[in-house]
Amino acid sequence: MILSVKAKKHGSILALDGIHLNRSGDEPLYVQVAAAIRGRIQSGAMPGGSKLPATRDLALALTINRTTAVEAYRLLREDGWVRSGVGSGTFVVSRESEEEAPVTSRSGFWSSRMEDLPRPEHGRAQPVADAATIRLTSPTADPAAFPLQEFREVLDEIFRREGAGCLDYGPPDGYAPLREVLAERLARQGVQVDPPRILLTNGSQQGLELIFRLLVPQGRTLLIEEPTYQLALRTARALRLNVRAVGLDDEGLRLDALSRSLDETRAGMLYTMPVFQNPTGLTLSPERRTRLLALASERGLPIVEDHFDAELDYRGDAPPPLLAEGSPQNVVLLGTFSKILFPGLRVGWIVVPEPLIGPLSEMKVCADLSGGLLTQMALYEFCRRGLLDTHLSRIRERNAARLAAMLGALEAHMPSGVRWTRPTGGMCLWLHLPKGLDADELAGEALRRGVAVSAGTAFHTNGGGWDGLRLCFIREDEERIRAGIRQLALTIEDGIVRGHSRESEGAAAPIL
Ligand SMILES: Cc1ncc(COP(=O)(O)O)c(C=O)c1O
Repeated sequence: MILSVKAKKHGSILALDGIHLNRSGDEPLYVQVAAAIRGRIQSGAMPGGSKLPATRDLALALTINRTTAVEAYRLLREDGWVRSGVGSGTFVVSRESEEEAPVTSRSGFWSSRMEDLPRPEHGRAQPVADAATIRLTSPTADPAAFPLQEFREVLDEIFRREGAGCLDYGPPDGYAPLREVLAERLARQGVQVDPPRILLTNGSQQGLELIFRLLVPQGRTLLIEEPTYQLALRTARALRLNVRAVGLDDEGLRLDALSRSLDETRAGMLYTMPVFQNPTGLTLSPERRTRLLALASERGLPIVEDHFDAELDYRGDAPPPLLAEGSPQNVVLLGTFSKILFPGLRVGWIVVPEPLIGPLSEMKVCADLSGGLLTQMALYEFCRRGLLDTHLSRIRERNAARLAAMLGALEAHMPSGVRWTRPTGGMCLWLHLPKGLDADELAGEALRRGVAVSAGTAFHTNGGGWDGLRLCFIREDEERIRAGIRQLALTIEDGIVRGHSRESEGAAAPIL
């Protein structure tokens, strides 16, 4: 890596000269950067006490995103290689100071055992917002819409009817009557499946983790859409899976890229969201659906379809699950009640191919022994009384108005050069920023101005996504959505103006 002349002025950056980053590999860039710096500390090139460059300078020097630099420093800090003082910078920890500091030396005992262990990532992706902030970050329904009263009544009924039995462990694969309800609901969507093939999980997140573990063994690669669900990426990292990203375009998953990935890797499975994808809101075109199924069957590729929000269909014409297309054997379907009811239930499900029922059931028991019997019974009763369908129509109507408000405000306020997807369902859409704007910096500035949005980098591997934002429309009401988009548009406009003026001054710094 050749460093810029400006960056070379700093001695600390000089010590980092020669760092080579593999931008097309599977290892995240921040891990590579941290490893390179750790190597220099271990070799003595950066002795104890030396100051690391500011993250902005490091980002410029290595042509990486600022967030990547921040993440690399966090990793080094957690491993005890560096320490940071508020406002004073980041320094290499010297051996003497390590011995003096009991906390660091305590973590020193574990650090040699922790090298490859996952780091907690929750709470870091989104900057902290205060109560007044307009949250366009949350892919969760507005709690004001949760059916509190109805659910309380249903719980009362379960306690009355089942007595202490509802507080016991439940069957390992889930409460049978609820699995029957699910089989009926799936049949309405064209998926014919016997209840024994439906495994209830603690949220679809658990289903996803189990399936990743089962279908992507050592030496195989997980193919994943990019951008994708952030926790799918984090799960893959936590499980230390090889990941290969397959890009999207306006019609959804790019099959040419998928085909190339199949040629170049030993794929374990493809994880995909063909309907109202998170984070883009895109739906796979009908022609691509057919071709995807044909390609996967031809190449022996298991497809895991995450159908998490497909029932949030505001026009009533969303495609059914891929399993409805002639019950292909290679498709595993994941679903959840989190988006159509509320996430605190922690009830999701997997439609499991027959041969995998035993192995998955065993993995599930080993993971959590049982799901929550009380909630599963209550959920069954909620569905039996027809309350789920009533609730679903209510929230579809509510969310549709919010989506319309967001699309209208984008049309009215966004400067030229900004593009966005136009979903007809789901929870979010994707905004492409004009050239030169940095999504992380823009999200930071928008938050200072009272609007929280998610920078695209959170949904990409290897530091991509700096030119996109995810905007969620189901949490806030129409008025606040309009106000939020107006403010976001002003932030983008200011960013464009500043970018132009910096360009004319000849500076290469990122704008905002
Ligand atoms: C794409 C996707 N899949 C799965 C989940 C997990 O949902 P849960 O575990 O609550 O069912 C989410 C949550 O936001 C999601 O966005």
